[in-house]
Amino acid sequence: MTLKRVDYDEGQHAVYARGRQMAPETRARWMARFAEHLPPERPLSVLDLGSGVGRLTPALADAFGGPVHGVEPSRRMREIAEATASHPAVRYLEGEAARIPLPDASLDAVLMFLSFHHVPDRAAGAAEIARVLKPGGRVLVRSPFSDRMTGGWWQQFFPRALAIEKQMFPTLAEVTDVFATVGLSPTALVEVTEVYAANETEAAEKLRLRAISTFEHMTEAEIEEGFARLDAHLARGADTMPSTGQSDLLVLG
Ligand SMILES: C[S@@+](CC[C@H](N)C(=O)[O-])C[C@H]1O[C@@H](n2cnc3c(N)ncnc32)[C@H](O)[C@@H]1O
Repeated sequence: MTLKRVDYDEGQHAVYARGRQMAPETRARWMARFAEHLPPERPLSVLDLGSGVGRLTPALADAFGGPVHGVEPSRRMREIAEATASHPAVRYLEGEAARIPLPDASLDAVLMFLSFHHVPDRAAGAAEIARVLKPGGRVLVRSPFSDRMTGGWWQQFFPRALAIEKQMFPTLAEVTDVFATVGLSPTALVEVTEVYAANETEAAEKLRLRAISTFEHMTEAEIEEGFARLDAHLARGADTMPSTGQSDLLVLG
């Protein structure tokens, strides 16, 4: 099965901000982990590549000074970012990994936060990233890697979800190999603890918004069956779902 391309202009833009809301402490934890792997001087110029609705973009400007460029191909995601995630040191631009509207050697850091797997031409994307990165700059790839995935809490209710995600996300070697062709190699692979939700009711409410592209590859019937299983679980009343998890961050330079 080949997965279709997910177009965030179609459905995801309408639910993403609510369905994928990030707790302030989780955002702060990500910034702290990025800082550990970026050059020490400030300010740093940063590219948030696939910036979506700007979930992390203003925080990058607060943490690193900027300028921060949020490059995003979906017009609707970008419009939401402009309306709800503005910051004096941030500007949002139309573009994508294989077409970055920024000069050569102009960035200290490029972040791809859950966007690498959407890039259709990864070799072209890696070449563009290498072009815009300054010597000594770093690439931060936050992505699940299909060969390291163990399955999220909610996947027990949707039997095909793990198989879909294993196909959706690259292996670690696929990412390191494509960056090796442009002279960028791994400097670190770190696990970052993320808080998904305060409790399982909140986690289920967020999931119901279907702001996870895995759902785009399921039939309506299997989504409904999955939510019926989740409802039955919630009706039993036990708060057993983990509210935190480990996420991979690959650093290259
Ligand atoms: C899961 S969202 C992540 C958004 C944001 N980084 C965040 O964490 O909230 C994936 C984003 O990647 C964008 N995207 C899709 N194709 C892309 C490409 N070729 N280059 C860069 N970003 C892309 C999508 O439009 C979407 O906004």
